[in-house]
Amino acid sequence: MTRMFALLALMPLGLIAGAPVWAAPAAPANAADSATELNVLHWWTSTSERAAADHVAARMAELGLRWVDGAVAGGGGGPAIKVLNERTLRGMAPKVAQLNGQATIEWAEMGLLLELDSVAKRRQWSRTMFPQVMAQLNVREHVVAAPLGIHRINNLYLNKAVFRRLKIELPTSWAGLASAAAALRAAGVTPVAFSDEPWQVATVFETLLLSEAGPALYRRMVEQRDPQAFNDPSVERAFQRLRDWRNLSGGAGERPWTSLVADFAAGHKAMLIMGDWARGELGTLGLEGGRDFACQAVPGSAGVHQFSIDTLAMLAGNYSAQAEQEKMAELLGSATLQLGYNRIKGSVPVRRDVPVDELDLCAQQSYQLFANPATARVPSLVHRMAFDEVGKNAFIETVHRFALDPKQTPAAAQRKLQGLLRALGPKSVKPTP
Ligand code: GAL
Repeated sequence: MTRMFALLALMPLGLIAGAPVWAAPAAPANAADSATELNVLHWWTSTSERAAADHVAARMAELGLRWVDGAVAGGGGGPAIKVLNERTLRGMAPKVAQLNGQATIEWAEMGLLLELDSVAKRRQWSRTMFPQVMAQLNVREHVVAAPLGIHRINNLYLNKAVFRRLKIELPTSWAGLASAAAALRAAGVTPVAFSDEPWQVATVFETLLLSEAGPALYRRMVEQRDPQAFNDPSVERAFQRLRDWRNLSGGAGERPWTSLVADFAAGHKAMLIMGDWARGELGTLGLEGGRDFACQAVPGSAGVHQFSIDTLAMLAGNYSAQAEQEKMAELLGSATLQLGYNRIKGSVPVRRDVPVDELDLCAQQSYQLFANPATARVPSLVHRMAFDEVGKNAFIETVHRFALDPKQTPAAAQRKLQGLLRALGPKSVKPTP
């Protein structure tokens, strides 16, 4: 909260008062052009992400809306959020921004987001969307973002052609993975695709934490932020697994996630733990889930859906684009857009009422699992479903330092994480105004 006030204090007065925040686009060709333009700030820059964004842009064009692209490279969105902060502080906020989960809450709490209640009501979002999706869109009883897709994080991908060629059985357990890794190595194939980019390291780690701790304890750690929960031995084991997994990658350094996917697709690396945006990218490389690669849960997390939900928020500014922003939000939630977009992106629809039989087997699995009320669905920390931006970044740094420092023991890393959680304090319960 304090940080938000600090941010507010830094904002130009006009912004707080609702004065124009978006610098007028340079000399629009005519009034109609500027009226229908929506600047969208996001971090979808890989081939599949780009194609998914272009799909939305094309559907918008049919409605007379122009998507003006503001892509900021950097998987996981760290740089994009920084740019959004910077632009907003300078009074140049975009009209639309990719803001997920806790980040959405932070921006809504500052009063910067357009409330989309009328769209949600008209389109009966509370009936058609999954309740977990609605929970991400709601801040103080108002809908403040439009949902795009549900990603699953705890995926283990196996390149079937490599396993087939080397006659290695597809592993499903940690022991099986270890022996498969040994066989792959013996055959000259690097077992694991891994990157030292901080957000990627932490994404792998959170799947391992889930695997070791199980969904109930993971929730206590990530959702309730109970520092006691971080005393559990599963945390140390998760750090050890991270080290072992990274050691199977041949230490390729900081690489964008797209190059890991490319290596995996080419069969240079046989196994990959990654959110299912990787599946979207594999699709653009001609590989189909189920047929060319197996998509399993990270061992120990089968049946659990560790999710991250992509949403676009509308920056209110002086409300001059409200009609267009509402039109766009309505489009994003529609069944047709949901199917078209998610098929490309690798995520699955946010609606309960769309047929998913045309999606690949991995997507169907993810969708059915998420839809099943009996499933344990747990939020991704790294992808903003549980911690705010600063806390999330501190978590990522702690995990990243461990990964890059072979002298740091898993027990020491656990102590650092405990210390961090104690310092961050309990999850704040925001007072209602
Ligand atoms: C996530 C985002 C996904 C995907 C990924 C890689 O944070 O939710 O849509 O783009 O980053 O950039």
